[in-house]
Amino acid sequence: MNDVIFETVVTTVAPDGRPHVAPMGVRYRGDQVVLMPFRPSTTLDNIAAGGCAVLNIVTDTRVFAGCVTGRREWPTQPAEKITGVRLACALSHVELQLAERIDDVQRPVLNMARVHEAMHAPFAGFNRAQAAVIEGAVLVSRLRMLPADKVDSEMAYLQIAIDKTAGPAEHEAWGWLREAVQRHRAALAGSIPEGLAP
Ligand SMILES: Cc1cc2nc3c(=O)[nH]c(=O)nc-3n(C[C@H](O)[C@H](O)[C@H](O)COP(=O)(O)O)c2cc1C
Repeated sequence: MNDVIFETVVTTVAPDGRPHVAPMGVRYRGDQVVLMPFRPSTTLDNIAAGGCAVLNIVTDTRVFAGCVTGRREWPTQPAEKITGVRLACALSHVELQLAERIDDVQRPVLNMARVHEAMHAPFAGFNRAQAAVIEGAVLVSRLRMLPADKVDSEMAYLQIAIDKTAGPAEHEAWGWLREAVQRHRAALAGSIPEGLAP
């Protein structure tokens, strides 16, 4: 049986205090939260250096789409019990301390203990457009690995949920994802060097 994975946003801080925001699929094992960052990872480096992270439960999917399209700066607030920050838009957050690290050349496993948690806003219910943005963000984060026709057919299917159920935030997030696909194609075609594209 597969592990149950929950899509969240993990915030960490660098030794110089710079916040870092990264979408991350997490597993819950007993009381602990399990993070599995692929190397190289700023999240991993920050946790290795400081031993702390914050798990953010968010439904503003612009954070997911933003992080995979170069928009990594999101409003944060200081954590209460650890050195760290939480997302201002988090419905709830959990402050975490590294309990155990199982090293791996590709994907270390970080078992994180809960230090403190707080609720900030209620969960309004499932929204299909938010789910579609998450799926779209996963596709965009794998553009270099996926065949173009698979990306196109999956984006076309996800577009249905966007058209039927999105609010302004999801439309904005979806627009960023579509732009990123177009930019990637243009870069492949040699018209715009990807790193220089707006
Ligand atoms: C929904 C979603 C889930 C993700 N889950 C993971 C994950 O579990 N591990 C990981 O390394 N990257 C994951 N990613 C990709 C990271 O967010 C992205 O590569 C990020 O930059 C992580 O690297 P960083 O720690 O250097 O920021 C996910 C992306 C999305 C959109």
